[in-house]
Amino acid sequence: MQESPHSPCGGFEKPSCWEEGQAVLTTETDSTAELIAETNLLNLLIVDDERSVRESCREVANALGFSTHIADSPEHAYRMLDSTNVDVVLLDLRLPGTNGMEVLREIKRRRPETAVVIMTGFATVQSAVQAMKAGAYDYVTKPFNFDELRLVLDRVTAHLKMGTENRILREQVKSKHGFGAMVGQAPEMDRLYRIIAKAAHSTHPVLILGESGTGKDLVARSIHYSGSFRDKPFIPVDCGSLVPSLIESELFGYVKGAFTGAVRAKDGLIAAADGGTVFLDEVGELPVDLQSKLLRALQEKEIRPVGGTRAIPINARVLAATNRDLEAAVQQGTFRRDLYFRLNVLTLRVPPLRERKQDIPLLAGHVLERVARTTGVQRNFSDDALKLMLNYEWPGNVRELENCLERACALTSGPTIHIADLPTALQNFHTQTPDVAASFETAGVAPLAELEKRTILHAITLLNGDKLEAARQLGIGKTTLYRKLKEYGSTV
Ligand SMILES: Nc1ncnc2c1ncn2[C@@H]1O[C@H](COP(=O)(O)OP(=O)(O)OP(=O)(O)O)[C@@H](O)[C@H]1O
Ligand SMILES: [Mg+2]
Repeated sequence: MQESPHSPCGGFEKPSCWEEGQAVLTTETDSTAELIAETNLLNLLIVDDERSVRESCREVANALGFSTHIADSPEHAYRMLDSTNVDVVLLDLRLPGTNGMEVLREIKRRRPETAVVIMTGFATVQSAVQAMKAGAYDYVTKPFNFDELRLVLDRVTAHLKMGTENRILREQVKSKHGFGAMVGQAPEMDRLYRIIAKAAHSTHPVLILGESGTGKDLVARSIHYSGSFRDKPFIPVDCGSLVPSLIESELFGYVKGAFTGAVRAKDGLIAAADGGTVFLDEVGELPVDLQSKLLRALQEKEIRPVGGTRAIPINARVLAATNRDLEAAVQQGTFRRDLYFRLNVLTLRVPPLRERKQDIPLLAGHVLERVARTTGVQRNFSDDALKLMLNYEWPGNVRELENCLERACALTSGPTIHIADLPTALQNFHTQTPDVAASFETAGVAPLAELEKRTILHAITLLNGDKLEAARQLGIGKTTLYRKLKEYGSTV
């Protein structure tokens, strides 16, 4: 998502927690729509005695798609926690007349699964650290700006979502709609589930390939949580977002004094995965010099922390994922061939959504059910909206589908999602989809039989191969349709 421009805070009073001169939220429809597109639909409870802080946090959280509740005192917060399904609490640690740490402990006692984000002044960062030790998930220091609040809320959302998925992955490997938290019944997905099940019980590296948003991360976690090391750590390493100069110390750890600021030794992520899985996400982004170090670590099954001379044995299973064409990168010399072979013992290709369009209704229904669990509103689709979703190519795959539906749910007031509630990318696609009548106009006069053939074939394509529905909409019997297709020699 694009960062929101730093313009004066529109629409609401500037609260005391807000940094002077920092923008918070624009009132422009476009950026609001973008924010909503990343909507989370989790329940957030804001606990603060200052009305202006509550209101502005609420405005920001609403724009991010949270369903927000407010409380001005601990007692009020406890009542809300007892009566509402709260996922995240944004808690002011300095409520007058109370001990913030006590309030935090009481919240965690009542709702251990709730993620608490502490709001605290710069002067009291120490207490924020204490609060984290007492179970808070994260903290923001006042004064904070919109971007800081957004970042922390995004982080907590990803954490909660992953927690739920991991639980599902642990509890039920085979599910009604797919495999663990993975939804999909297309033959391509069945094949994928079979390989995941096999991979889960081996210790070989697995390379997971697929376009962005296809579910590579979910596949990696499925492999880990359905295998026998499921109770050991699963450590994801995002090679694409780590600062290059820090990747080595993050991966391999460092010894005391290795560099300025290394006041004590620290284990790396590979060592932290001890007995479990290390997931090298976006492995195609790894700088070449680190590729050699990683290769050595995998071959020798030991790592050398930065600044250290002693090798430490490692015992972690390696999974890697990328949306890049690694073979091409090998040809171009940007990815080491030997590392490619080492990671590529078993390869999994996660199919793009456009190659398994029959899963769209299932995935869409899954998202609507998830939204309904937090909002209490069970939504459905108009026929036109569903048709459009089936025709669309989904370049952003399942992630785009999820975002699109969460946004649509946030925008519609009624229970039915119509085409107008879908993002402009889909609506534009709708208007660009070839119109049979228009194509006839440009083609000039054609024999009637030819027009009939084109109409039938176009209808079947438009309905994603559903011949019965095509016959129904064309107003002809299904036997007629099958006979015509046979005449055309069509295999659609
Ligand atoms: N088969 C599936 N069933 C249910 N949800 C899915 C499925 N595949 C993907 N998702 C959801 O789609 C989103 C994107 O998936 P994920 O992060 O695993 O994709 P990715 O391939 O790792 O993307 P990127 O390349 O951008 O990192 C996640 O919210 C994930 O839970
Ligand atoms: Mg990913």
